Amino acid sequence: MTLAKITGTGSYLPKKILGNHDLEKMVDTSDEWIMTRTGIRERRIADEKETTSDLGIKAAKKAMEKAHVKAREIDLILVATSTSDMIFPSTAAYIQHGLAAKNAAAFDLSAACTGFIFGLSVAEQYIKTKRYKAILLIGTEIMSRIVDWTDRKTCVLFGDGAGAVIIQGTDSDEGILTTHTYTDGSYADFLFAPGSRTPTSLQKELAVKKLDVIHMKGNETFKVAVNNMGKVAKEALEKCELTVDDIDLVIPHQANKRIIEAINKKLVIPPEKVFINLQKYGNTSAASIPIALDEALCSNRISQGDYVLLVAFGGGLTWGSSIVKW
Ligand code: ACO
Repeated sequence: MTLAKITGTGSYLPKKILGNHDLEKMVDTSDEWIMTRTGIRERRIADEKETTSDLGIKAAKKAMEKAHVKAREIDLILVATSTSDMIFPSTAAYIQHGLAAKNAAAFDLSAACTGFIFGLSVAEQYIKTKRYKAILLIGTEIMSRIVDWTDRKTCVLFGDGAGAVIIQGTDSDEGILTTHTYTDGSYADFLFAPGSRTPTSLQKELAVKKLDVIHMKGNETFKVAVNNMGKVAKEALEKCELTVDDIDLVIPHQANKRIIEAINKKLVIPPEKVFINLQKYGNTSAASIPIALDEALCSNRISQGDYVLLVAFGGGLTWGSSIVKW
């Protein structure tokens, strides 16, 4: 049976670094508070001329190079993002044009920080059914444009960046073994940024009061995140008839070190098997897992035949997991 395999990865982080000490000058916070509560030391901020599609294109080019896939060979471009260039056209359309991927259909997918896992599950189906041969999946975000820079509860958490993968079919047993995705819209108000649901009569007021930004119930989100990430990771292990001991590396969504530590405890996973880079980039939402995956590969944390567990959580609320045999 054909499996879907990740044949190339790439990432791009904007150059500008915003450290915790810089934030101390902007809001009433401290490096000590941010480090102990989140583990984040600094995050990247896109240049004002950069767009979400620009970041995605840069990450995509690196993934295509590693997979030896040319732009015209791509059949589908899937972009997971909550910070699209425009409401429409899709960010994927701008990326398709930017890459000159003339044969690719392209669309965006919105599942907040779980967007990359949802994207993997969509790509997996198209490859397994042999509808497409080469899919470019990108997670790209400019969170800094929807953050309220006067709200210390949220502005310290997020960062900008992009990660990309090429997914192709294989007849070997190395590839995406399983994907699991969930949504519970009853928690929609835990984490959101307003959109067209806002009545037209209120849109101007929201913009003036700076309410068209990220709103978050941090404590409530934390609890649901830990519970559901633990459950969905176990579900993936059971589906593949694997145990935690079989897993070589866990790549969790990089939101908060304390969330990751709580999941490690639930799953009984030693910290050395868990990849963390949130100290450098903060929470880059849908870009966080593909950036971490690319860094894990570049630093030789993944070898051929390894089992890699991906697990994420985000606005919606959404959550998901995947196990990939490398
Ligand atoms: N600096 C200093 N003090 C702060 C800051 C800050 N940046 N932010 C909040 N505080 C204060 C609060 O005002 C509060 O003060 P008070 O007691 O006087 O009211 C105190 O610190 C404690 O606040 P809590 O919200 O209880 O702090 P907590 O330990 O829960 O940490 C945090 C907050 C980091 C947001 C945590 O709840 C969390 O990580 N939640 C999950 C959020 C998350 O990961 N969201 C994204 C996931 S989904 C996605 O990625 C889209």
